[in-house]
Amino acid sequence: MMSPSNSNLTSSTAFLLYLAILLNVVSAHNFSKLFQCNWAPDHLVDEGDQIKLTLDTASGCGFGSKRKYLFGKISLEIKLVEGDSAGTVTAFYMSSDGPSHDELDFEFLGNLSGDPYLVQTNVYVNGTGDREQRHTLWFDPTTDFHTYTLLWNHYYVMFLVDGVPLRVFANKEEANVLYPKNQAMGIYGSLWNADDWATQGGMVKTNWSHAPFVSTFRSFKVDACEFSPENGTVIGKCSNVRQYHWDKSAMNGLSKHKSQQLKWVREKHLVYDYCEDTVRFPEPPKECLN
Ligand SMILES: *[C@@H]1O[C@H](CO)[C@@H](O)[C@H](O)[C@H]1NC(C)=O
Ligand SMILES: *[C@@H]1O[C@H](CO)[C@@H](O)[C@H](O)[C@H]1NC(C)=O
Ligand SMILES: *[C@@H]1O[C@H](CO)[C@@H](O)[C@H](O)[C@H]1NC(C)=O
Ligand SMILES: *[C@@H]1O[C@H](CO)[C@@H](O)[C@H](O)[C@H]1NC(C)=O
Ligand SMILES: *[C@@H]1O[C@H](CO)[C@@H](O)[C@H](O)[C@H]1NC(C)=O
Repeated sequence: MMSPSNSNLTSSTAFLLYLAILLNVVSAHNFSKLFQCNWAPDHLVDEGDQIKLTLDTASGCGFGSKRKYLFGKISLEIKLVEGDSAGTVTAFYMSSDGPSHDELDFEFLGNLSGDPYLVQTNVYVNGTGDREQRHTLWFDPTTDFHTYTLLWNHYYVMFLVDGVPLRVFANKEEANVLYPKNQAMGIYGSLWNADDWATQGGMVKTNWSHAPFVSTFRSFKVDACEFSPENGTVIGKCSNVRQYHWDKSAMNGLSKHKSQQLKWVREKHLVYDYCEDTVRFPEPPKECLN
């Protein structure tokens, strides 16, 4: 027979066990708490601490956040398709809806084994993109996870890789350049076949004998102002978004360290900048002028 104290012990142990399971479930389900699959659920594998996006001849796949956000800092870790990834594109981006949408893109363009990935970034404001930059990376993005961040405030949109700024799209409203600030954006990830343009301008096609192609995402960190679809405002504590750390006046301009990193990235890793493409833009776009 169990003494009362023993039975208490048993029930408190059971309670702790229950709590542990509960906490485990909660921490293992942060993907599904914030995101849902929005394309080909059978190609997205939720392993709890990470998700795998797969691409084969049948389909690619993708996910999106359940909520939309207006300003903030979003980061996640990705391990890109390894080996022969030519023709594939893995994307991490934010976007609002509709033809006049705003969008901030990270697109990882695959390549043949041993050839470097390119990271293409783009910024759409009010439906107009055509602001591509392309960079190589200073590491192999397929052997390990690396952190990719979108920092979006009233001063700039910053694209960061492992904390190093890859690109800064500054707010130049004073020079009559539109800036993304009125439309809440969702957060998205996807993997798809883009062999008509992605690798060496579309010359290298996807080699389907290497399918399925897999990109792994984890450590989703959404530090952003949630937007209420009901009344079209940011929710509760975020009602004054400029109070938030990513938007404090100290964020105006880059630190000396960040400026140096950005300069280094431009010198060593920038391979294409629309601002310098005089064939596409005989007149440089307004935001490219200092
Ligand atoms: C945004 O684009 C729409 C057309 O898609 C246009 O009517 C509107 O004037 C544009 N807004 C601004 C601020 O330029
Ligand atoms: C793929 O590798 C080739 C050869 O190094 C390079 O020219 C190209 O920029 C790389 N990336 C893509 C996406 O084509
Ligand atoms: C596709 O990959 C297979 C297996 O590695 C290889 O034998 C074949 O030559 C590749 N095809 C092309 C067009 O490169
Ligand atoms: C869930 O959150 C924990 C703690 O922040 C993090 O370590 C883990 O990577 C996250 N899981 C996913 C799938 O993002
Ligand atoms: C807007 O709606 C959200 C719920 O979606 C609520 O929390 C918030 O208080 C509302 N704000 C205003 C100004 O009504």
